[in-house]
Order: sequence, then C-alpha cells, then structure tokens
Amino acid sequence: MSLLKHLSCHLILTQAIFLGADSDNDYYSARWSKCIYSFPDLRDMVMVSNFYFNKYLIIQFNSTVGRFVGFTEYGVSVAEQWNNGSILQVTRTYVDSECRANIITRDPAVRDKAVKPKVKLSLVKPAGGSHPAVLMCSAYEFYPPHIKVSWLRDGKQVTSDVTSVMEMADGDWYYQIHSELAYISKPGEKISCMVEHVSSAQRIIKDWGKRR
Ligand SMILES: *[C@@H]1O[C@H](CO)[C@@H](O)[C@H](O)[C@H]1NC(C)=O
Ligand SMILES: *[C@@H]1O[C@H](CO)[C@@H](O)[C@H](O)[C@H]1NC(C)=O
Repeated sequence: MSLLKHLSCHLILTQAIFLGADSDNDYYSARWSKCIYSFPDLRDMVMVSNFYFNKYLIIQFNSTVGRFVGFTEYGVSVAEQWNNGSILQVTRTYVDSECRANIITRDPAVRDKAVKPKVKLSLVKPAGGSHPAVLMCSAYEFYPPHIKVSWLRDGKQVTSDVTSVMEMADGDWYYQIHSELAYISKPGEKISCMVEHVSSAQRIIKDWGKRR
C-alpha cells in the first residue's frame, strides 16, 4: 500500500446503505455514505455519499466539495437538478447532523480498541560514495490498520525519496508497516520519522541519532 493512499489515518464509518431493485427488470441502485475523519474531536470530518445505478457510480456528494458531481450523462443531469434544489442545502448539513452527531458517541467504542504502534528507526544501508544512506522506519503491532508514516528533515516533511511502504497483517489482528527513506545527509541535519495513528492523539516522532 503506497504512502499516497495513506494521506491520513482515516477512520471510516459507513452511515447508511440503501438498496433498491426492480424485480421485473433487475435494475439495481445503491447508495452509501461514509463519514471519514482522523481526529477524536472530528474536526476534519468529511462525508461522502455515492449513488450507484447498476453498479456504476453516477453521482457523488463530498462535503468538502459541497455539491453533487455527476459521472454519467444521467448523473450529470440529476446532479445539476439536485445542486439547484433544497436537497443540496439539506445534504450539506449531514456532515454535522449525521456524521458528527452520531460518531461523537460511537467513536469511543472503536477508539478504545486502538493499539498504539511501536516505532523503530534503523539504518538499512549506510551512505557510500555517491550512494545515499537508507533509513527504515517500522511501526509494529498497531490496530486499526489505517496509519500514516512520514519523514521529516529538520522538521520539514519529505515528499520524495521515500522508496517503499508496505503494510502487512501480522495475522493476529495487529499490523506493521515499513517505510524507507534514501537520503544524502547534510551536516547537523535532523532526520525524523513521524507516525500518525488513531491510537495516539499526539504524533509519534522518532529522531534518528544525532550526527557526529
Ligand atoms: C473529498 O473532496 C476533497 C476535495 O476535493 C478530496 O481531497 C477528498 O479526497 C475527497 N474525499 C473522497 C473520499 O473522495
Ligand atoms: C440550475 O441553475 C443554473 C443557474 O441558475 C441554470 O443555468 C440551470 O438551468 C439550472 N438547472 C436545472 C436543472 O434547474
């Protein structure tokens, strides 16, 4: 699983699923809504509602976008009508009235079961000649699997040279993840690995040993 897929350590709670089928013609429609958030205070809550017809995603409402978006000719025309009507105003309130209002009470039940990762930094390959050094940041025995591992150089997030991220089930409900950073060190620079996980309100930051 790539780092990009883990832009945030999201908890996803599915709020509602509506299924409908027409028995004569076997049409099938479905709608699901997700409430996606990272923090216990729900401040980054996003609600996404997807509308499917015969398994195709035809319309989506994403509370960050704030309007319906159509993906097929029919979806585009329905989305336009919904965006013009009162359904848009009502749907915009759902991120509070459905997501925040319900999850504020359910979140603790899920959060209680979270297990904080043990984070370890290790040197995979020392720098040699023009070859960069490779550091590995590993997080072990955490639950749930959603996690974000990033690298900091002097406190600034690194976006390139992160060469691999893997996530694996340990087979015992716990997960582990490994991220590698290839870097040419600068004198006095501080390299750190930052782990964000639902089990910990604070970011877990491990600094690589000070350079001599
Ligand atoms: C919701 O929209 C925002 C802004 O475009 C985007 O960053 C985010 O990935 C979307 N969420 C989902 C689940 O599609
Ligand atoms: C929605 O509103 C826009 C702008 O007011 C208008 O151009 C468009 O025709 C309307 N569409 C529908 C389906 O009502």
